[in-house]
Amino acid sequence: MAVFFLAAAVLFLLLAGRSDAQLSPGFYSASCPTVESVVRQAMSQAVMNDTRAGAAVLRLFYHDCFVNGCDASLLLDDTPTTPGEKGSGPNAGSPTTGFDLVDAVKTQVEAACPGIVSCADILALAARDSVNLLGGPSWAVPLGRRDATFPNSTGTATDLPGPDSDIPALIAAFAAKGLTSRDLAALSGAHTVGEARCASFRTRVYCDANVSPSFAAQQQQGCPASGGDDSLAPLDALTPGEFDNGYYRNLVVGAGLLHSDQELFNNGPVDGVVRLYSANADAFSADFAASMIRLGNVAPLTGTSGEIRLDCRKVNS
Ligand code: HEM
Ligand SMILES: *[C@@H]1O[C@H](CO)[C@@H](O)[C@H](O)[C@H]1NC(C)=O
Ligand SMILES: *[C@@H]1O[C@H](CO)[C@@H](O)[C@H](O)[C@H]1NC(C)=O
Repeated sequence: MAVFFLAAAVLFLLLAGRSDAQLSPGFYSASCPTVESVVRQAMSQAVMNDTRAGAAVLRLFYHDCFVNGCDASLLLDDTPTTPGEKGSGPNAGSPTTGFDLVDAVKTQVEAACPGIVSCADILALAARDSVNLLGGPSWAVPLGRRDATFPNSTGTATDLPGPDSDIPALIAAFAAKGLTSRDLAALSGAHTVGEARCASFRTRVYCDANVSPSFAAQQQQGCPASGGDDSLAPLDALTPGEFDNGYYRNLVVGAGLLHSDQELFNNGPVDGVVRLYSANADAFSADFAASMIRLGNVAPLTGTSGEIRLDCRKVNS
């Protein structure tokens, strides 16, 4: 009998703990039923005008989730006393396109449902819509995240792997967030859209041994051996503005733009998955959607933690 009660108590605690932290796609169905269409509409206008805007928002979602969880901490501006995340680590020097677009979406969501929807959830929805508007899959986004009241500027430098990372470092960085090497392989497919600066891929196209010679020669045209750090090249030169499996079709011929990209197909542990995605676009789409949900589940604030920020750039006063 005592064992039964103990078991029941443990089960209750497990379920209670779980439902507390659990996100759900219907979270705003009563409090803000139009949120999904408002976000979709705003993202559609922005992405039709400029496909890079979709890529920028997708990257922001990843960078937010990897630093203190998916809590919109990335969106906070610097204050006189607290450096934010957006100017540190790999975020430094990035264009403001994504942040400006999130602000525009937030303004429209606030007009429909004041004080209800977190910036962290808006970012999760906007990232999903970016992928779908660029031709990729769609999925139901679990919602109910709340917004951080402080940034973590040191986390950006330590927790986000850089373009010179090798495969063990990439796997370790994802494992540190509870994500598998298959998640790493699938989520890296986000590099089927968007652009990188010459500074991010110079050593790759001048020095790497595993780069396709014709691809390297072509990339060297736009990325000089010195200077021109900010010249841009598409991460997927095959189909730059399209969310498809072109990224993996590049990798299997040695045409990954970043050193870290090509590490996924360099006689290592995820070669087989890369080969699968390069040949089977549906397998990539399904895995990408599932991994985006797992990425979105990284340490969200829920319940009464954090707040619903009114302006994504600053904590409520
Ligand atoms: C696996 C480790 C990753 C590394 C080392 C990495 C690194 C980079 C680098 C260096 C750039 C170019 C930045 C620049 O030169 O300005 C970039 C761009 C981008 N990354 Fe990643 N990334 C990784 C994973 C991801 C993931 C998981 C996502 C999303 C799910 C993502 C989405 C993007 C997008 C969409 C862009 C293009 C942004 C734009 O055009 O403005 N990346 N990434
Ligand atoms: C359209 O995209 C361009 C960049 O390509 C940007 O400068 C402009 O602000 C965008 N316009 C709108 C309405 O989003
Ligand atoms: C900031 O991120 C680092 C790296 O993940 C972590 O060790 C640290 O505890 C975080 N700081 C705060 C204040 O959350």
